[in-house]
Amino acid sequence: MTDRPAILFVCLGNICRSPLAEAAFRKAANDAGLAADADSAGTAAYHVGSPPDPRSIATAARHGIDISDYAGRQIEQADFERFTHIYAMDQSNLRNIRAIAPSDCKAEIALLLDTVPGREGADIADPYYDGEENFAFTWDDVWSAAQAIVSSLQAQGS
Ligand code: 4NP
Repeated sequence: MTDRPAILFVCLGNICRSPLAEAAFRKAANDAGLAADADSAGTAAYHVGSPPDPRSIATAARHGIDISDYAGRQIEQADFERFTHIYAMDQSNLRNIRAIAPSDCKAEIALLLDTVPGREGADIADPYYDGEENFAFTWDDVWSAAQAIVSSLQAQGS
């Protein structure tokens, strides 16, 4: 566990949603002058070592962020020590994260949209089988959450 916030964003493949969530959070933290670590991972191993989906790369680029050097990885036990907060993109991934979390896990594990007032309990829809236009909705959701997380961490004195 670090002495500054360390946030892990988790989806299924780590190529569509969670890389965008990581990028949005890095930007929101940087804009706010908040020192925090961020990473992303998948619950599945389908895309280990792969760059993000081209539609996620294009969406991030539209917001001035280059995520083409991100590489997919699967969540691992060390993540439950390394990170202070682990956010799942949807209920299915939340269940799968909780199922492998150690019983003495100190990281806070939650649904990403639980951080956004009025969106509690909602999933970030999986855009993988959709057109590129759906990735703009993914961005809107992860950007709202990134700003909410930064505000909350700042209110807690980070
Ligand atoms: P992600 O989207 O979980 O947001 O990265 C998906 C990526 C790949 C697959 C499913 C969802 N897949 O089945 O390969």
